[in-house]
Amino acid sequence: MTQTRIKPLSINDLLTMKQRGEKITCLTAYDASFSALIDRSGVDIILVGDSLGMTIQGHDTTLPVTLTDMIYHARCVSKARSRAFVIADLPFMTYSTPAAAAENAAKLMQCSGVQMIKLEGARPDIARFLVGQGIPVCGHLGLLPQFINQLGSYAVQGKTALEAEKIIADAQQLQQAGAGLIVLECVPAALAKTISEQLTIPIIGIGAGVDCDGQVLVLYDMLDISISKRPRFSKNFIQGAESIQAAIVAYHNAVKQAKFPTLEHSF
Ligand code: KIV
Repeated sequence: MTQTRIKPLSINDLLTMKQRGEKITCLTAYDASFSALIDRSGVDIILVGDSLGMTIQGHDTTLPVTLTDMIYHARCVSKARSRAFVIADLPFMTYSTPAAAAENAAKLMQCSGVQMIKLEGARPDIARFLVGQGIPVCGHLGLLPQFINQLGSYAVQGKTALEAEKIIADAQQLQQAGAGLIVLECVPAALAKTISEQLTIPIIGIGAGVDCDGQVLVLYDMLDISISKRPRFSKNFIQGAESIQAAIVAYHNAVKQAKFPTLEHSF
């Protein structure tokens, strides 16, 4: 008997979800076991985030994470998924020039099998260059953890009209540069709604309100096993769940039904 192989979702599938108003679900993972569990739970995207600097490596920030670390964890995750779309972060200072970004993104993709790389900040120049080489790009705007030493704290971004306008303009420029997705972190819900409505590519929010096209959470926060305090925008989904898989399914269903995040988890 031949077994039908499940094909991983493509960027086109995610775009179709936005177009038909279906919320997109995303969780971080850093290893094969959680990757398989998240995949089996029906979650659409797995993000191999450089948040592994905190969750796996025990650092205070994402800055010490290296490209070698990312390749190792991204490979573990990619191997174990069947259906989910997999994205991996380019770590701090690995994409400061287009040439460096292309070399490092190519290594990350070739050695790990992820479908897209994510980079933080308003870098349409880098996004355009990578997309031109066949490397799909996810932007990341709002709160930028790789800029923590400049920001000084993990505070909500885009609260003034000027800041909000800049984030909107940055998102538009990333889309024009060919980015296929944007993660929007810790911004007022109204701003995230505007950006999600204005852009044609999916906007995946974290601490950005319910009106984004999809949601992402750090797995260890929603399972309440992070070393640091759970951020206000996250939720403990293990509470009341019978298993880790049940908690992940509860998150997936809550996002699909626009029941998460609520006002309590938004700014
Ligand atoms: O590194 C990460 O896990 C992330 C999410 C917070 C979006 O970038």
